[in-house]
Amino acid sequence: MKSLTSDIHNCNVVEMEKNHNPAGNITIYQNGDPQPFDVKRIYYLYDVPGGSERGGHAHKQLHQLIVAASGSFDVIIDDGRNKKIIQLNRPYYGLLVVPGIWREIVNFSSGAICLVLASEKYSEEDYLRDYNAFIEWKSLK
Ligand code: TYD
Repeated sequence: MKSLTSDIHNCNVVEMEKNHNPAGNITIYQNGDPQPFDVKRIYYLYDVPGGSERGGHAHKQLHQLIVAASGSFDVIIDDGRNKKIIQLNRPYYGLLVVPGIWREIVNFSSGAICLVLASEKYSEEDYLRDYNAFIEWKSLK
């Protein structure tokens, strides 16, 4: 899929495998399973002060699966034409964010953990951090 033409309809909430146990559940994401992409990096946001907003950028190549490992938050996805707000509040759902999508993460609950599974290692060159530059990159101007 070309990231330039990606739109918010390419970003789905996927349900991950859940191993239910009365003593506590486990959710599994492993490379090789029929998942959207193989994972090269994980990172997580935590101790997010109330009212903070994260994200505020797009990626040129990176695929991500964003999971509310604990608590809840809202992810605003924006392809330059349309926007959608998706609330994540269960650790077994992940929001697939494809390349070429502007995202903001807001409304963190107290103690929320935002776990991100990423298809590539960190590369600052992959970021579009300016909204106008993002729109230009998407050839929407
Ligand atoms: P950034 O992706 O801008 O955070 P967020 O979208 O959550 O607001 O990253 C914040 C800082 O952390 C930035 O200086 C880059 C650095 N960083 C890394 O060094 N490696 C990584 O894998 C990530 C995600 C960020």
